[in-house]
Amino acid sequence: MNKPPASLFVGVTGASGAPYAVRLVRALADAGCELTLCLSDAGVAVVAHELELGVTGRAEVTAAFLDAAKAQAHVYSPDDLTAPVASGSNFPDAAVVCPCSMSAVAHIALGTTRTLIHRAGDVALKEGRPLVLVPRETPLSEIHLARLLDARRAGAVIVAPMPGFYSLPRTLDDAIDFVAGKVLAALGFEQRLSPPWEGLHK
Ligand SMILES: Cc1cc2nc3c(=O)[nH]c(=O)nc-3n(C[C@H](O)[C@H](O)[C@H](O)COP(=O)(O)O)c2cc1C
Repeated sequence: MNKPPASLFVGVTGASGAPYAVRLVRALADAGCELTLCLSDAGVAVVAHELELGVTGRAEVTAAFLDAAKAQAHVYSPDDLTAPVASGSNFPDAAVVCPCSMSAVAHIALGTTRTLIHRAGDVALKEGRPLVLVPRETPLSEIHLARLLDARRAGAVIVAPMPGFYSLPRTLDDAIDFVAGKVLAALGFEQRLSPPWEGLHK
């Protein structure tokens, strides 16, 4: 990738990992990215739970999420398949789904679009735009692995949220930063959240 995306679609689904999404969106906003955001229905529930937001409605959860991320975004509901990002003629420079449920991985990999997040993945692939998926499940079944391979072969970059311990994280935030940094790097950003390996300390 030559230069980092100036505009980005961010899908947040109902896989565990809302803190990764907050950290990622905050970093993208800091980088001056124009953001289009869509939380799936399950994403709303998981974000509300994992961020302990104390609110449940889509509008309230989305606002609290953006507040936590210190970011602004064009926000669309997952059933709005008329949104600009549903078309290749008005698609951002890149797309990321973080965290990405195995259901969303499968829909994107198989092209069986049901929501705006699936459609954004579909459009990114058909238009040849960078698409980064951050899938989370464990253990992974053969079905999960097969669909991840399908998505990779179709052009998606799979960034599994697997914090490395070689960077000697001291806090949970350090581990979250590590994953967010890997996603930023996969999108083409220069980033400092995930420190480069500089060899063993002697
Ligand atoms: C608290 C919670 C955590 C979940 N974690 C995961 C997960 O890590 N990975 C996953 O694939 N699904 C997870 N699920 C299930 C998904 O939310 C469910 O499959 C949903 O249908 C995904 O829909 P979506 O892709 O539209 O968000 C979780 C559900 C809940 C309530």
